[in-house]
Amino acid sequence: MSWNSLFEKSYTPYSGQPQACIIEGTSGEFYAGVRIENISYPLTIPAVQAACAICLSEMDIPKTIFVPHNKMEQLKFWEAEFDLNVLSTKEPPVEQVENLFHPKESEFSPLKRLKQLLDQAVVVNSDFPVSALLFTEHGFFEGVNIEVSGWTHGICAERVAISKAFAHGTTEFTKMEIHTRKGEFSSPCGACRQVITELLPYHTLKLHHSDGTLSEHLSVDLLPFSFKSSALNNK
Ligand code: THU
Repeated sequence: MSWNSLFEKSYTPYSGQPQACIIEGTSGEFYAGVRIENISYPLTIPAVQAACAICLSEMDIPKTIFVPHNKMEQLKFWEAEFDLNVLSTKEPPVEQVENLFHPKESEFSPLKRLKQLLDQAVVVNSDFPVSALLFTEHGFFEGVNIEVSGWTHGICAERVAISKAFAHGTTEFTKMEIHTRKGEFSSPCGACRQVITELLPYHTLKLHHSDGTLSEHLSVDLLPFSFKSSALNNK
């Protein structure tokens, strides 16, 4: 594995500047994160945030971060948050990172898995766990919400699942399923809707509500008249 092969997995149609990094958790496992931009620039997921959130969502704690350079967005925040050892390296430290793709299982119950996953959410501020499954034709990626001391640096379950998929090099999806234990509806927030419409524009979203009901939507329908501008495309 080279930084270049990881850079290729990042989604940077607006800046044209790919970013990637690798976290080593206290368990000794390695997790990759890549930058995922959004047409609404502030909703971009920096590589460092993606890698740290992925590590935490696997119930591991970030210990060391390997970066191609020290100018990575949000690096200072996450370094301080977890007292990270920051290593700027010419190449990634490992050939392989954790494979967080789950191949399709027969007799798989998404809701059962979504309920189990809620226990992996890091909800130190809200006590409001959310889980998400992002499906491809051949399997799925899991996400839970991650909260840290800086509220704006936390990340929703839906975007953790998306971060895992991109870091894996997967960008073709079939559907997403979402669950929360509490609240009136299990419903993606406005920011997630913006990210989802860009990356899964005409895909099915299955919302498993806390009262046991299920509703199914097309992602475009959840964000009518959404922000798009051809002026921003393909810089
Ligand atoms: N949250 C999600 O994970 N997904 C959503 O779409 C709604 C909000 C999380 C973020 C935060 O950890 C908590 O719920 C309260 O906002």
